[in-house]
Amino acid sequence: MKKSFLLAALLFAALEPLKADEGMWLPALISQRIGDMQAKGLQLSAEDIYSVNQASLKDAVVLFGRGCTGELVSDEGLLFTNHHCGYGFIQRHSSVEHDYLKDGFWAMNRSQELPNPGLTVRFLERMEDVTAAVLKGYKPAKMNEEQRQALIKKNSDKLKADAVKEGKGLRASVEALYYGNQYFLFVFREYSDVRLVGAPPSSIGKFGGETDNWMWPRHTGDFSIFRIYAGQDNMPAEYSETNVPYRPKKSLKISRAGVKEGDFTFVYGCPGSTQEYIHSEAVRYIQDISDPEKIALRTTRLNLMKKHMDQSQAVRIQYSSKYAGVANAWKKWQGEEKGLRKNKVVPVKQAYEKRFAEWAVGTRYEGITDRLALLYAAYNPIYRSYEYYNETVRAVEKIQMASGRPVAQKDYYRPIDEEIFVAMVSAFDKALDDSYKPESFLRQRAAFASVEAWKDAVFADDALAKELAEGLDAYYTQVLTPQLRELSSAITLTYRDYMQGQMEFESGRDFYPDANLTLRVAYGKVAGYRPVDAVWYNPVSTLRGIIEKDNPDIFDYNIPQVLRDIYARGGFEEQPVCFLATNHTTGGNSGSPVLNAKGELIGINFDRVWEGTMSDLVYDPEICRNISLDVRYLLFVIKEVGNAAYLFDEMNFAD
Ligand code: ARG
Ligand code: GLU
Repeated sequence: MKKSFLLAALLFAALEPLKADEGMWLPALISQRIGDMQAKGLQLSAEDIYSVNQASLKDAVVLFGRGCTGELVSDEGLLFTNHHCGYGFIQRHSSVEHDYLKDGFWAMNRSQELPNPGLTVRFLERMEDVTAAVLKGYKPAKMNEEQRQALIKKNSDKLKADAVKEGKGLRASVEALYYGNQYFLFVFREYSDVRLVGAPPSSIGKFGGETDNWMWPRHTGDFSIFRIYAGQDNMPAEYSETNVPYRPKKSLKISRAGVKEGDFTFVYGCPGSTQEYIHSEAVRYIQDISDPEKIALRTTRLNLMKKHMDQSQAVRIQYSSKYAGVANAWKKWQGEEKGLRKNKVVPVKQAYEKRFAEWAVGTRYEGITDRLALLYAAYNPIYRSYEYYNETVRAVEKIQMASGRPVAQKDYYRPIDEEIFVAMVSAFDKALDDSYKPESFLRQRAAFASVEAWKDAVFADDALAKELAEGLDAYYTQVLTPQLRELSSAITLTYRDYMQGQMEFESGRDFYPDANLTLRVAYGKVAGYRPVDAVWYNPVSTLRGIIEKDNPDIFDYNIPQVLRDIYARGGFEEQPVCFLATNHTTGGNSGSPVLNAKGELIGINFDRVWEGTMSDLVYDPEICRNISLDVRYLLFVIKEVGNAAYLFDEMNFAD
């Protein structure tokens, strides 16, 4: 047994060398990585990156809103994040008279900075391994999973309550890592007076729109600027005119020295979700069923929206944000599906599972990969119907309204919604067996000669819409969700062992926990890539490329006149705009600081390249790249477009 384990491990090591630059590491455990980081160029210590005793880089990074990252760049609370992270807030301040989305916004002094009710930022105070405390009292032989979960909740609640006793604005969470093999306590301080300071026009901040989204070469000036305010004591306080700019423990120095291929970089931020250790059957479901079906459904929906948006400027404005939301995942899934196939992820995982299963004979992990396959065989069809329901009937705004979910009336255009109803209800009905449809759905269907007629009736009669919506809601939340929950908790339970098994099986591999919106460090280097044969992508884009794309007739490429004028003055051809690096990032890393070897700010992360979006499931160092805004373009836009160079006075420049 021992011998075959060694042999398998050796064989494995020979087949799969350590994947360079893969990983999202926990800052508190960064001392385990610091040697590798330093060998690759980092000039900082572990304490510089994360410390609870002294100011460290973590004190300059925040969770911005509910799913983005931001960084502090002055001692007066100034913060950078992405334009697409600030988008909703910029939109809320916009009106026909002051269209800040279209024209940009620049506060010319502190009194012009705009408050944003509901927007919060969270600083990480500390994180610590609380596995022992969370599992205190756990008796594996005597407790089932439900009892274990109840115990974990009780222990975690106590830890959290103790952690937030210490002071103002404290929030705590306990997060499971490695499917519950490890637990970490995170203690944050949350500030809720966060004001808008500046944003470029969308034609810069969203330049390239959906056309360029997830793509390289990229030229998006994807940034916005906010300021955190605090009470006189520098502690969190509700919005008040008497609040003062927050004085951070640490703010980032800004480097204007620039980047070049091969430079060491790291990203400090809050990646949302990855699934790097899942079973081949889960990947197969995503690649063969989930991604293709959702892509097709969204293609239909986007085409319907676009048809109407192309016909009317008013409708285009109404639906631009919804369109962007639908299109973002739609485009990502396409890259992901291709990447999974190209990398043969399913067969590679199957081969891995076979080796694992052989190794596991006689251990407590015996049969575990087969068990997962069986669980997925039960789970996938139910999950598919759930996803289908979400992407079809739940995408109809009329049905959303009928089930009590708010829909902004000013952004509602009924002709689009009617066409979406017909297309999505038909797709749902055709794709799923009748056993996945509630009785009210079947009854209404039978009552009409066509989906068209059904649609007319539902849009004319709120009672009918309500019956349809509530019947579906009830079925999916009360019948299907419990089934899914039961299976998914069995799957998680099995993964807990499988994860541990993988760690023993590959004892030489560096494991990192899947992303879960907690603070992480990813590191790599500035690097181009080869998207297809005979093409090499350079890692740096410039203003010249913006002028090349500029086209007043194409909405996504119509730059503001001021940018044309500046360019015509000459001297800005080489102005850097974006750059690529090998940092392992995902959704949630938007707005994250991209730092150089000295920990100085060189860019702001905002996207990944299309061919590499499968990195949420498997990271390929050849092709996975994060896309960052070059901080020098941000400075250029502040000065030349925003005429707001006064902001430089409070920034700290490294050079
Ligand atoms: N792809 C980036 C991200 O996932 C940028 C999204 C901005 N939205 C858009 N639809 N273009 O967040
Ligand atoms: N744009 C994404 C975000 O909002 C980041 C891109 C990615 O998924 O890596 O977080």
